Amino acid sequence: MLADTRSQTPEHIAIIMDGNGRWAERRGRPRIFGHIKGCGRVREIIREADRLGVKKLTLYAFSSENWGRPTDEVSVLMRLLYKWLIRERRELLEKNIRFRAIGAIHRLPVTVQRMVEDTMKVSQENSGLQVTLALSYGGREELVTTARRLASRVVSGEISVTDINEDLFSSQLWTADIGDPDLLIRTSGEQRISNFLLWQLAYAELYFTDKMWPDFKASDLRLSLDAYSRRQRRFGLTEHQLEVRV
Ligand code: FPP
Repeated sequence: MLADTRSQTPEHIAIIMDGNGRWAERRGRPRIFGHIKGCGRVREIIREADRLGVKKLTLYAFSSENWGRPTDEVSVLMRLLYKWLIRERRELLEKNIRFRAIGAIHRLPVTVQRMVEDTMKVSQENSGLQVTLALSYGGREELVTTARRLASRVVSGEISVTDINEDLFSSQLWTADIGDPDLLIRTSGEQRISNFLLWQLAYAELYFTDKMWPDFKASDLRLSLDAYSRRQRRFGLTEHQLEVRV
């Protein structure tokens, strides 16, 4: 019997929301139109995750590499983010959702930074779904930042080299309070991690769908959870070992 290793609802879902630009271009519209539609899906997916009893939802909204996009697109994305926070804040609070952001937040425009920090603050006591936006986020940058942080603690004598283990390392990541995703979803048909949560995805189940993000509906989220519930997570062990553990 493998009942306990077949996962039910994933506690923590991470999503790479990809395909906004292509979705718009295929309709002869400017890329930004896809981002606007994508914002609507963010709301729908948060609501559905909450309804399904997911505990944590981590969304890749803007990568470190996205700063290299045309300036117009970057500034529209920043404006959309700002407006999204203003618009959604009430619902987040009403639904007892805790909002967080990870990434190089200091690189965001000051107005957006303030809005992000404020939304984190006002929702910090909420005990429901934890929604985290990865903003100006890069997995390698996070790992280098963590390595530097630990190295300086070694240099100051606060810890020794041998104190560094997986637990300590995890506790210094931007995701220290969030932990590792059980399921990663990527939309748009691409099958890559794209510098997202490189450490944290070590044992995540991966789910790729051809749907572009603006087309990814609540029902598509449910499909991904169905697929997840049929997976067997072995964490490096054999099937036999898992049977014995039941
Ligand atoms: C990828 O599509 C998506 C992004 C770079 C931004 C994701 C942003 C949103 C879903 C909207 C804003 C989010 C929030 C939370 C307000 P792409 O432009 O890379 O699409 P493409 O691969 O087709 O070019």
